[in-house]
Amino acid sequence: NEGALWGGRFSDGPSPALQRLSRSTHFDWQLGGYDIQGSRAHAQALAAAGYLTADELAAMLAGLDRLHARWADGTLAPRDDDEDVHGALEAALVADLGPELGGRLRAGRSRNDQIATLIRLYLRDHAAVIATEVRALIGALAEQADAHPDAVMPGRTHLQHAQPVLLAHHLLAHCWPLVRDLERLRDWRARADRSPYGAGALAGSSLGLDPALVASELGFAGPTENSIDATSARDLVAEFAYIAAQVGVDLSRLAEEVILWSTREFAFVTLHDSWSTGSSIMPQKKNPDIAELARGKAGRLIGDLAGLLATLKGLPLAYNRDLQEDKEPVFDAVETLEVLLPAVTGMVATLRFDTERMAALAPEGFSLATDVADWLVRQRVPFREAHEIAGALVAHCERNSLQLHEPSDADYAAIDPRLTGDVRSVLTVTGSIASRSGAGGTAPAAVAAQRAHLAERLAAL
Ligand code: ARG
Repeated sequence: NEGALWGGRFSDGPSPALQRLSRSTHFDWQLGGYDIQGSRAHAQALAAAGYLTADELAAMLAGLDRLHARWADGTLAPRDDDEDVHGALEAALVADLGPELGGRLRAGRSRNDQIATLIRLYLRDHAAVIATEVRALIGALAEQADAHPDAVMPGRTHLQHAQPVLLAHHLLAHCWPLVRDLERLRDWRARADRSPYGAGALAGSSLGLDPALVASELGFAGPTENSIDATSARDLVAEFAYIAAQVGVDLSRLAEEVILWSTREFAFVTLHDSWSTGSSIMPQKKNPDIAELARGKAGRLIGDLAGLLATLKGLPLAYNRDLQEDKEPVFDAVETLEVLLPAVTGMVATLRFDTERMAALAPEGFSLATDVADWLVRQRVPFREAHEIAGALVAHCERNSLQLHEPSDADYAAIDPRLTGDVRSVLTVTGSIASRSGAGGTAPAAVAAQRAHLAERLAAL
């Protein structure tokens, strides 16, 4: 193999089975742009240290530009016996520039510090793409909240009717975890802002190359502190996979609700035709496939994280070839989210809510029973007793098929003399919601304040 990166000490070439196993070009070829970007920076470090003349540097950079153009337009492709993207690109560069100049680029670097740098460049770019998409989803949820400032719904715990809440409050509850995911991406970005280039195979370079120069050329805050750590650490890749999995889990919860809400039994939402699917046999069907795929792909994203962590567990320092297995899971996580997020956003943005039905169901299931207990507390009844009295009222109403406000004053008094007809003043959905006016609560003014805080948190990101 003309272009192989190694071979001097071998008398036989690699077996075909080894080549097939070892080859990574089918997934790492997409890092070619970053590889060439790294080579440009490295060439400048070589020139700064006196290993390339100004003319040689200019010729090298021109060759790298030609290489990049061919990589980007697809006219350059890896050959069957190229082991990885690094070797394939170097072979192509040598073929273009000749072995004299082309053979100088590899001085002072290793694929180990290259790949550790490239994966950060890749993830940095895709963190920005994913953040933009997550923001768009938060925007769609917040717009639905803004469009329904007064709509009410049954709030649930254990999936059972619990207490009525504002629809806007519920929708905003899906925004906050996504805001935290954006903050996680920002925090990850700061931690990943170190360039491993210059760490060499593991021990650093003896050629007096300046890692800080390469770091700043590549837009990193600075070089890594430890060349052994630089080449072997993949915690940043795993952290990215965790954030992707967490976004997936957050989407899956929203998705599950959309699936439930669009059932005949709930009938809280109608999906837009363009964001739902049909059945090949049942002409009437309209299915929430986007939501189901979101729910399903969360499992896949969790698998990407779990597989990556399992690969990393117990690896000794420094570089081990196992580390090549970091790329496919995290590429899969990135590709999955970049396809999923726009679809979920479109589905959310076009949901139509049946607010009348949601309002009609909001007081069902004795969801105002807590308001009875709280009213008794305001009459100075200890909460333990108030809870018992409200519970007895629920039992009475259940036996007689009544709503909480429907028993007579005499029936109230028979349950407990402190339960008077005045309690009916709090037994409305809007009254219940308005009463939960503390910060973070579901009262309209509190939700409006929350909405403003959401906008501030997003603006600060
Ligand atoms: N392709 C490898 C990876 O993705 C980098 C090459 C390092 N190979 C080696 N034999 N040191 O991790």
